[in-house]
Amino acid sequence: MMQVRAVPEPEAAKPRHAAAAQIKKLAEEAAHCERCPLYRKATQTVFGEGPIGALIMLVGEQPGDQEDRAGRPFVGPAGRMLDAALAQVGLDRGATYVTNAVKHFKYEQRGKRRLHKHPNRGEVQACRWWLDREFALVRPKLVVALGAVAAHAILNRPIVLARTRGRILALPDGRSVVATMHPSAILRMPDETARRQAFGNFVSDLKQAVKIAKSRP
Ligand code: URA
Repeated sequence: MMQVRAVPEPEAAKPRHAAAAQIKKLAEEAAHCERCPLYRKATQTVFGEGPIGALIMLVGEQPGDQEDRAGRPFVGPAGRMLDAALAQVGLDRGATYVTNAVKHFKYEQRGKRRLHKHPNRGEVQACRWWLDREFALVRPKLVVALGAVAAHAILNRPIVLARTRGRILALPDGRSVVATMHPSAILRMPDETARRQAFGNFVSDLKQAVKIAKSRP
């Protein structure tokens, strides 16, 4: 019988493989998360996905209705808008790690519809435990906060998006964050002209983020 010899792994790939295995384990643990009451009504935990060492980590607020059913982040309307923006930036979504500040869908049932509700500070704080571990294992070049709730969760302080979007914000541990709009906020704009302009701003913030991330060693 032919002997198959294992090809030795390059040294640099080893920590990456170890981190990939750890994050897989973390996602399995998160599937049983009961750190806050949101797990009771949600279908499942929606953990982050993407490669270790991603150029950019995109952090949203929380999964929406479709994400809750699919078990994957940003696969609904907001995800399609994010994908359209990434396409304009020329950034492959596969080169990013996509996650949320809160990993369970919070909603209010109205008839057959499940209406999104913002997570409260306690829920955000409880979920920070997972986000911190994702930061530590993925080690992205740059974190991009999608919307004010995600930015507040990451920075631990509220920000005014209109004043800070697209700028580098420093974290106490030396890492950097760029905040931009949440794609759902763009989708909710009733006026087509405003929506178009906001989408253009969103794309330019993401372009800026990619430029910053690529300049990092
Ligand atoms: N909105 C978010 O913030 N995250 C998702 O995954 C989907 C919609």
